[in-house]
Amino acid sequence: MADHSSTAPGTAHSADHGHDDGRRDFLLLSTLAVGAVGAGLAAWPFIDTMNPSKDVLALATTEVDLSPISEGQSITVIWRGKPVFVRRRTKAEITEAKKTLGEKDPEADDKRTKKPEWLVVIGICTHLGCIPLGQKTGDPKGDYNGWFCPCHGSAYDTSGRIRKGPAPTNLAVPPYEFTGDTTIRIG
Ligand code: FES
Repeated sequence: MADHSSTAPGTAHSADHGHDDGRRDFLLLSTLAVGAVGAGLAAWPFIDTMNPSKDVLALATTEVDLSPISEGQSITVIWRGKPVFVRRRTKAEITEAKKTLGEKDPEADDKRTKKPEWLVVIGICTHLGCIPLGQKTGDPKGDYNGWFCPCHGSAYDTSGRIRKGPAPTNLAVPPYEFTGDTTIRIG
């Protein structure tokens, strides 16, 4: 099911870090606990919690109705717990995206999109996993008019390609397909 409300990237970014830190602590503690007991049986409850629950499996795919999104607007949907940016690009943004392959992680725009008007990318900075700004009107979009990650200054272009800053690769394109003129299924 689509969540058409925009998330607040600034808030999500700090919450995301907190969550990651928390998860790392939990994994570390769990590993230590299992190691300390040293018995195979003790490991079972922990391993069992690693199996995805039914509601998680149900979210393995996410349907998105694109019809309410107007040109130049973006929405954020959650797919498998990750933010996915869906942007209806303007003609100027498409032209800009097609002018270059990018330098750091060169990739043609038409390899990253199924229809030029729609860009679908995972909204997680490939440097250290912050959620870049640029989804909301008034957000900074960086020097390349796409997304800007204020954590360490990575800038992405209108194709979601990394153009400046420490992030090593482009924003990832999730698996998705058009199931209608204005609907996509992610996953
Ligand atoms: S996490 Fe985005 S620039 Fe560091």
